Amino acid sequence: MSRTKLIAGNWKLNPVDDKGALELLRQLRTRLAPFTKAGIAVMPPFTMLHLAVDILKDTRIAVGGQNLSGEESGAFTGEVSAPMLKSAGCEYVIIGHSERRQFFNETDQGVNRKIMAALKHALNPIVCVGETLEQREAGQEESVVREQVVQALSEIKTTEIHPVIIAYEPVWAIGTGRTASPTQAQAMHLFIRRSVEELYDAQIAQAMLILYGGSVKPDNARELLSQKDIDGALVGGACLKADSFAEIVAAGESIL
Ligand code: 13P
Repeated sequence: MSRTKLIAGNWKLNPVDDKGALELLRQLRTRLAPFTKAGIAVMPPFTMLHLAVDILKDTRIAVGGQNLSGEESGAFTGEVSAPMLKSAGCEYVIIGHSERRQFFNETDQGVNRKIMAALKHALNPIVCVGETLEQREAGQEESVVREQVVQALSEIKTTEIHPVIIAYEPVWAIGTGRTASPTQAQAMHLFIRRSVEELYDAQIAQAMLILYGGSVKPDNARELLSQKDIDGALVGGACLKADSFAEIVAAGESIL
């Protein structure tokens, strides 16, 4: 079965004002216009979502949130919920990014709740998993990632799983300039797909998009994206420049 490629840009805590966001969005609109095959999404900070949806309307570029609350509404100061993202025009939401796990104490159980909230409101969750350097050096990368996948997908039914996307982001490759080799990444993606097959079935596993994230740049994108089980990229630093993000999208399209 042939899966599409999805190139998603996680802006993280950038840029610092709407002026910077507007500039980047306008450039993306122009630079990404020629691409017709790969899926493209951008995930700006919450305050910039409306701006992004507005500037990118009538383009193929989808918008997503970087996080969401497991709660729907109520007395939860500072939270943003799935129906809020949906009504702002989001199609995707990143869940369980390692920076959230590391700096904001997110747990696998919390990730699971957030996935359920996203699915309930027809958002496509991009669920991040990945081991630390210490865990890889101890040879634990497969057991760590498997546990994250199993916990994240706990009680999500066969009939509900279809919109879920997994992003393998080895923590040691994020923002370090040190990327997993295509062979290392492919091996883990295959391992994740097999884990999904054990949890669900072969058809679901074959259809699931599994993205790679961690220092994806224009010069390594093509090789990573050519791997059989790598269905796209979750890009951090390189998505903040329209030119480099467009080159990564071009690398994805060249393989389709
Ligand atoms: P970098 O591309 O900056 O390493 O970030 C990857 C990432 O965390 C995407 O979610």
